[in-house]
Formats: sequence, C-alpha cells, structure tokens
Amino acid sequence: MCGIVGIVSSSRVAPKLVRSLLNLEYRGYDSCGLAVCNNGVIDVRKDKGPVKQVSEILKFNEMNGMIGIGHTRWATTGAVTRENAHPHASNQGEFALVHNGIISNYRDLRQMLESKDYQFLSDTDTEVLVHLIDFHFRSSGDLEESIRRMSRDLDGTFAFAVISVHDPNHIYAARRESPLIIGLGINENYIGSDYNAILDYTRNVIPVKDGEYVVIDREAVSIRNLLSGEKITRDIVTLDWDPELSQKGGYPHYMLKEIHEQPSTVESALKVDIEKINLVCDWILNADRVYLLGVGTTYYVAECVQYYCALLSGRHLIAVSSDEFEYIAQLSDRSLVLAFSQSGETYDTLTALRYAKKFGARTAAIINVMGSTMVSETDLAIMQQSGPEICVLSTKAAVAQITIAIRIALELGRRSGHLTGSDYDSHLKSLAALPGMIRRVINESKGFVNNLAQQTQSYRNWLFIGRGIYSAIAREAALKMKEVTYHHAEGVSGGFMKHGTIALIDKSFGSIFFLPPRSSIELFQHTIANAEEIKSRDGFIVGFGFGERVGIFNHEINLQDSDQISAPVLLLVLGQMFAYYSAVILKRNVDRPRSLAKSVTVA
Ligand code: AGP
Ligand code: GLU
Repeated sequence: MCGIVGIVSSSRVAPKLVRSLLNLEYRGYDSCGLAVCNNGVIDVRKDKGPVKQVSEILKFNEMNGMIGIGHTRWATTGAVTRENAHPHASNQGEFALVHNGIISNYRDLRQMLESKDYQFLSDTDTEVLVHLIDFHFRSSGDLEESIRRMSRDLDGTFAFAVISVHDPNHIYAARRESPLIIGLGINENYIGSDYNAILDYTRNVIPVKDGEYVVIDREAVSIRNLLSGEKITRDIVTLDWDPELSQKGGYPHYMLKEIHEQPSTVESALKVDIEKINLVCDWILNADRVYLLGVGTTYYVAECVQYYCALLSGRHLIAVSSDEFEYIAQLSDRSLVLAFSQSGETYDTLTALRYAKKFGARTAAIINVMGSTMVSETDLAIMQQSGPEICVLSTKAAVAQITIAIRIALELGRRSGHLTGSDYDSHLKSLAALPGMIRRVINESKGFVNNLAQQTQSYRNWLFIGRGIYSAIAREAALKMKEVTYHHAEGVSGGFMKHGTIALIDKSFGSIFFLPPRSSIELFQHTIANAEEIKSRDGFIVGFGFGERVGIFNHEINLQDSDQISAPVLLLVLGQMFAYYSAVILKRNVDRPRSLAKSVTVA
C-alpha cells in the first residue's frame, strides 16, 4: 500500500517523480503529492485524486529542484483529504516526509509533541514522524541521528523517506516491515517502495531489509542498521523485467492485457528449475505437516493446490489463509510452510511465515517480485517469472502459481507411486499444452463472455458454484467479480450451498456453475443437480463447462473438451473474463477498483 519514490539527481527531478507516481499508482490511489527541495526551501504540493489530475492542477512538473520525494496514498489513518495526503512537512518547513505503514503508538506520540507546541495539520499517524525528526534535530543537530531516534520511538510498521533543508543533497529512508528498495542510476540514485517506481530509469537495484536505513545522494548509497548504525554491504540485483511489460501495449486495461499474457506466464512457470521443484518435494515428503499459505487470491491458489495435491499425489496439504494462520497452525521444526505471493510483500503472509519460523519450521514460497522481502526471508524462493502485474486484481500471477504447484504435485505423485509412469507422462503432456489451450479459450470465448456480461449486467447478486477443485475456482472467480464490479458474488461449493445459502435464491439472483468435463461423471452430475435446485427456485443459472450443451441453463458457455489438469484453470480464465467484461460495461475503474491496493503491506 502507498507508493513511495525518492530521486536525487544532477538535473530536475519533478518530471521523473511524476512518472514514478504514475507507475506506482496501483499501490494506492486516493491522493498523491510531491516535495522538492530547491535553494533551501521545500515545496510541497499534494491533494486527493488521481496522479494525472492532481499533477496537472498543481503543476507538479514545474517544481524546481534536484532532490525530491513523492507518494501515492492508500489511507489507513485519517480520511482521504488534501491535509492527510503525503508528503507531510514539519512546522517550519525544514523537513518533509512520506510514509507507508501504520504507526500504532501515534496517539501517544502526538500527545507528547502537542504538549511541546507542535501543530498538527492532519489526522494521519504519519505526521508524528516528521515532527519527531524536528524534535530530535533540535537537540542533536544531526539529521541522521534524529532519524534513528525517531525510528526507535515508533511502534508499528513503516517505510519512509525524508528530505531536509539542512542536508539538501541526501534522501534518508528506512524500513520496518514495509517494503523499500534502492535504485542505482548514472548521476542519480533512487529509493522506491517497489521496482515499478524506478523501472523506467534503471534495472540495478539493492533491496533494503527490515531494521535498516539508507542514505543516498546522486553518486553514492549507503545502508546501515537502524539500531547500531553499523554499515551493511549488499550485492546489486539486476532486474530482468522488460519495462515494456509495464505498459498497456494497446490494451484498454492492464487487466485485459494480463489475462492475455497468461499463456506466456504459464510457459515461464513451466520453465522453473526442476531442482527447486525437487527440493520442495523432498521437504514435503519429510515434513510432519505441510501448510499452503496465501491470502485473497493467493489463498484460493492454495485451495486449488490442495485439491491438485490430493488428486495427483494422494496427500492432504493444508491450505490456510495467512491472516488466520497463527490462530490455527500447529507447527514444529519438522513442519513446512509453502506460501504464494505475487508481490512478496503482503503483510499477512510475511507475518505468518515469520510465525512459522519461530517454531523452526521450513519455509518456501512461490513469488513473482524479485528482491522482495519474502524472497530474502524464506528458506527457498521459487521465482515464477510472470513479469510485472500492474492491475490490482491478480490474474496471470495466480495462474502461474497454480501451474508451478501442479508441477510439484505431479513430482510428488510420481515419487510416492500414487501416479503410474504413464499417468505422470500424460498429465505432464496436458500441462505442456496448457498455454495453447488458454490462448484458445481467450480468443474463442471473448465474444460469448462479453455477450453474457451484457445480458446479465442488471444482476447485482451472484453465487459462483462448483464442487471439488471447481469450488476453489468458483471462489477465486467470485473474488474477481466482487473486486472489479462491486457486485456481491459469493463462491460456494455445490454441496454446501443447500445448507443455507440457497435461501437467498429468487429471480433476481444469478448463479454461475463451474462444471467439470464429463469424464468426471459424478462431479458433473452432482453439479448439475445443484443447478436444477437453483433453477426450481427461479434463480437465473449460467453454466461454464466443456463439450456439448447441457440444456438446463439460461445461458451456457462450453469450451472444447479438456482434462483434469487443465480444466479448472481454463474455467478460471472464463471467470476472469466475465468479471472483466462486466466491469467494463458497468464503467468501473478496472485496474484500480475502489478501496483496494496492489500489495497490502499493513495488518
Ligand atoms: C487479488 O485480486 C487481490 N487484489 C488480493 O487478494 C491479492 O491476491 C492478495 O492481497 C495477496 O497478494 P500477494 O499475492 O501480493 O501476496
Ligand atoms: N498510515 C499512513 C496514512 O494513512 C500511510 C498509509 C499506508 O501505508 O497505506 O496516510
């Protein structure tokens, strides 16, 4: 949440800061602002609204100065107003600061500062940080020391960046549990809350770890420990992401572009180093308990993986939502936790992994963003190589994670003898064919899905129903639907639906059934029985399935017949497309739905 950028250069930084804010906007988009220091004065401009609009009205591009910081906000504390937007400045304008995170003791700190006549202009937790720096600077006269003292005063989570008239050539930044990276340029250096902040300017980055602070000027960067001040050396990581991938490339929305990229992200997922897959399998086979972790979409990924592992390897791995993990997990030093995370920065998942580590459990994760916190904190990071996912809704990253996990399940099944050699070979073949099948589904079903979305735009309540693995697919498709259309969509298993949820059904209620191929005859028939139950209560029913028309649905979309491995993924793609086209018809903010943020880095 919240995008942070800082640039110190030998030329004007404002235009680049604006470009970074536009690239960061997916992290938070309720307000934005810049602070640029020039000739001993810090100019702060900020307001609520999208970057393009605020930056035009306040003429961000015209701000003069070769050092500056910027912010896109996802409010946690204090309403969405101009006053609460970042950067926040100290009362005499000597310091300006941007922050990502939540300061849990801000009320006490604010009270203390108010008693010393500091004037607060916002309702945010963030504003205490800048006044605290001022406060410590009055006694120490040393900016670096003041920042370290201020950090020690804080409870909670932060990544922040500060500029000051007292040291107009340096940006100071630090982190505790919120992401921060350094970018290295030529005659300029950067800090950012993620790589998208700086991908347009450099591929050379250094990740910053918890409890560290950095000082950058245009020629050098240094990292130190916040408590001890000890200097830290760390290697440069060179990003191999193509900046082109961060552009829309002719698509009206990133969501549609990323749905279309799925065949190639599955291809990249299939290239993951077999040694890493084998190592995870070794760990799974030796563990007393294996948890699959994720939250939001990645929890539904974990649920899908749970079904794939049961089917292909006869093992029950336990899917748990990261936010609930510590209330339920039973861990030992023989446990394994396998997490899924696009960003590698999700607070709930990082916290759950840290909790598992306390018991000596092993941790592994399938992650998209290189150099993210989860990469450095897990025992084994498997990089999924899906390229940047910009739309706040996860599509291509989730499908790539499922692909890698199927690969793991297949290896487990082969090793344990659950799969015969020929079953293993034929499943592997299906997996290799998946990119082509996804491509066909997207190209051949676009028109049908769009047409369905047109016809159903008045339905504001939906049940998404499936059985077995298709119930997990239904839940993920329902999450896509509610995130992007703001319509109520509940994913539920067909069996469960009868035990209460069915009371909701009337003629204003839509239900989408995720049907398995007919080779899974029992699953298919049970799902059809559930559809009949809803139909007989006047519900509007849609079928997403394979092969011939079933004939009982008000509307059906049938894909070319498929197999047990690919079918769930193909129906998920249909679900993503239905959510997308419905949102376009409803004129929703597709890539940045209200109240959401790309990576949720707060509790
Ligand atoms: C996906 O559409 C969501 N916006 C959200 O549920 C997301 O998947 C979740 O926050 C986990 O994020 P991560 O993959 O970056 O850890
Ligand atoms: N707590 C700060 C605010 O509400 C930062 C929010 C965030 O990191 O998302 O302004």
